[in-house]
Amino acid sequence: MEKVRIGVIGSRFAADFHCDAYSRSPYAQLVAVAALDNLEPFCRKWRIPAAYEDFREMLAREDLDLVSICIPNFLHHDAAVAASEAGIDAVCEKPLATTIADARHMIEVCRKNGTRLFYAEDWCLSPTMKRIDALLDEGAVGDILYVKAKEVHSGTHSPFARDKKTCGGGSLLHLGVHPVGYLLHLVGKGSNPVVEVTGKTTGGLESNFVHKGNSGEDFGIGILRFQNGVFGFVEGNYITLGGMEDKVEIYGTAGVIKADLTHSSPIDLYSPAGVSYTIEKLDHNRGWLKPAVDEYYNMGYVSELAYFMDCVRFNREPFYGVSAEAGLACLEIIHALYESSATGRTVYGRWI
Ligand SMILES: NC(=O)c1ccc[n+]([C@@H]2O[C@H](COP(=O)([O-])OP(=O)(O)OC[C@H]3O[C@@H](n4cnc5c(N)ncnc54)[C@H](O)[C@@H]3O)[C@@H](O)[C@H]2O)c1
Repeated sequence: MEKVRIGVIGSRFAADFHCDAYSRSPYAQLVAVAALDNLEPFCRKWRIPAAYEDFREMLAREDLDLVSICIPNFLHHDAAVAASEAGIDAVCEKPLATTIADARHMIEVCRKNGTRLFYAEDWCLSPTMKRIDALLDEGAVGDILYVKAKEVHSGTHSPFARDKKTCGGGSLLHLGVHPVGYLLHLVGKGSNPVVEVTGKTTGGLESNFVHKGNSGEDFGIGILRFQNGVFGFVEGNYITLGGMEDKVEIYGTAGVIKADLTHSSPIDLYSPAGVSYTIEKLDHNRGWLKPAVDEYYNMGYVSELAYFMDCVRFNREPFYGVSAEAGLACLEIIHALYESSATGRTVYGRWI
């Protein structure tokens, strides 16, 4: 296959970074987009020749090899199933679905149809995390004992993410899915299950710290214990001012690794008058700043979509951390954390 013919479902935030990644690859051909709004400017920006309001019509009419699902969480299931029924491989944005039943059904349908379902956990393929994988492989910190990971910011830009029904949960699900997914990749590796979890959240609505209009929580933390004894601490919250933080700390028997995906620019800028943009969800852009250098690249979007295209071109299955099975395990673990928070008890299981 010379070029991977791509259809994108969605036309806003995530669709934009998917198209940015595709536009950097010599193997991608952007064929069509389907979304409810923003079609004309989106097609112009990314030079996409065809636009649809109904993704099913796009899937029926266009010859596609790969579809990017970049729409609200509650629609991931229907789009993934429709792509698979049309015989097309799909990349699904996080979380895999809003319910465990939907996620299981998506996997089942793709298995039945023999199509691939990639799970877009960009942390696993970010250049920083790939370097960390290599450092760990050469024994830089010995054996991992404990990993602390978080994604936090001041609140979501998307109305669907403020409602538990259309999001699948609150901040622990919508943001915490990244640290949980990364831990599954780093420590779980598809063979070392999470066996117990303890969670706490603010619970949503009036119980929230700040976002009283969100039906899901605006603060959530969780402790995971893996079968091999390694502990993880994950965090997803909407109460953090000062820009999005994606941070990881890995404590091993022989050393420590700390990584910062969002605030670690090599540029220090002082601008009292301010600039238009520096990093995602920073609430002011003046004074001392650290403007991101190629944010989409550093977050892992460019590498992950290049990797998924390679899987399609060379007929390969994805590695565990970006498989639909890992996406399902993330959902199961976060649901167990919700159960723990609601009951005040540790929840035991076997999540992989
Ligand atoms: N990996 C990451 O770091 C990351 C970052 C942001 C968003 N996401 C994920 O990407 C997905 C989209 O989020 P977003 O921030 O781009 O949302 P958004 O609100 O910016 O855009 C939503 C898009 O979905 C389209 N849409 C809505 N209903 C549709 C339908 N029935 N058919 C076709 N299109 C429809 C809208 O037209 C719009 O283009 C979410 O699942 C989100 O969790 C992932």
